[in-house]
Amino acid sequence: MSSPKLEETIERKSDETGDKVTPWDVNAESDTGIDYDKLIRRFGSSKISPELITRIESIIKKPVHHFIRRGIFFSHRDLESILTVYEQQKPFFLYTGRGPSSEAMHLGHLIPFIMTKWLQDAFDVPLVIQMTDDEKFLWKDITIDDANKYAYENAKDIIACGFDPTKTFIFSDFDFMAQCPNFYRNICRIQKSVTFNQVKGIFGFTESDCIGKIAFPAIQAAPSVSSSFPFIFGEKLKQELPCLIPCAIDQDPYFRMTRDVAPRLNFPKPSLIHSTFFPALQGSKSKMSASDPNSSIFLTDSPKDIKTKINKHAFSGGKDSIEEHRAKGGDCDIDVSFQYLTFFMDDDQRLEEIRQDYSSGKLLTGELKKILIEVLQTLVAQHQERRKQVTSDVVRQFMTPRQLNFRY
Ligand code: TYM
Repeated sequence: MSSPKLEETIERKSDETGDKVTPWDVNAESDTGIDYDKLIRRFGSSKISPELITRIESIIKKPVHHFIRRGIFFSHRDLESILTVYEQQKPFFLYTGRGPSSEAMHLGHLIPFIMTKWLQDAFDVPLVIQMTDDEKFLWKDITIDDANKYAYENAKDIIACGFDPTKTFIFSDFDFMAQCPNFYRNICRIQKSVTFNQVKGIFGFTESDCIGKIAFPAIQAAPSVSSSFPFIFGEKLKQELPCLIPCAIDQDPYFRMTRDVAPRLNFPKPSLIHSTFFPALQGSKSKMSASDPNSSIFLTDSPKDIKTKINKHAFSGGKDSIEEHRAKGGDCDIDVSFQYLTFFMDDDQRLEEIRQDYSSGKLLTGELKKILIEVLQTLVAQHQERRKQVTSDVVRQFMTPRQLNFRY
């Protein structure tokens, strides 16, 4: 069994910098947000380098998504080994998830799903999506029925991102646990291999946390193991398949634990690619979070809601008066509207023009916000239109355990 010392080191280092990044809490010391280079060193992951981007592009024979190009997906663990597997024409699969804590998802939640959809298309691989309704029941003040209902509601938003129904399996933990003995068996294997001391070190659990929380990390770990899905990958898998997990970096603690335990169970260590956080409207010191409605733009917001929220709450890097702004220019590094455009405006040239005009003072905060409002109103309206097409039958299709269509 690995020593708990590793995790203790991670905890101690996190005290040295002021930034806090856990699956439940994200808070930066500086107005420019989390120091992601420091975070990479603290977590022990690797930066997605220009050389790695070139390698990806040469393998898939097309440009990478702008999330990768712009450093929004900035960090990884063992992404190279997934690329090698793909080059050797061997199989791998994608795994990501969502904790359904409410009916409405926000724009930040879309980031990993947009990336995952792009990866599914680029590599043509199967995908499993875990809806951790059990996690949200354990952590939040909601009933099992509500958490389970939110899982199915949120699945509609996820499906609306455009996943291929023949290659994607979405599951609610509450429902899947009873459908698939292999899943529960892998959970128990992982639970038996991790001590309370280890999860205490990684997640900061205390003795007054309910035992459901303490056992939960194994449930988020198990879908990275292909034998948890015998109906997809076959009952008689000779070897577990490699897995790639796209997520924001707040979820990394779960997968540090998974990677730590994997060799002891003869499971491959999952690979990861991590994104930065889509900031709260109030600024990059915290992430957009569903528990603070004023910090978020929801996928259910109307065009008017979007306009009001941006105009009222989006933190500005502009100067106090028009004269001063024209003379000194705005600060794109702390301006939330500009930051949002880096996520959702895919035209590099236009984005660069906006950056230059805002930094020089040619473009005013109100004008920048107007551009962003139009971009987000279009994005959210298109999402809502696609979501309308997702009927209960479509959800059932995605959420039924079944064979998927892939070529290995
Ligand atoms: P949840 O529901 O908190 O978040 C779902 C996904 O969205 C990411 N995320 C964000 N990304 C960018 N900016 C933000 N402001 C932001 N807020 C959330 C999360 O990192 C996550 O990728 N326990 C998980 C559910 C889960 C999961 C997984 C996630 C189960 N298995 C495997 C990723 C991979 C959760 O509660 O996510």
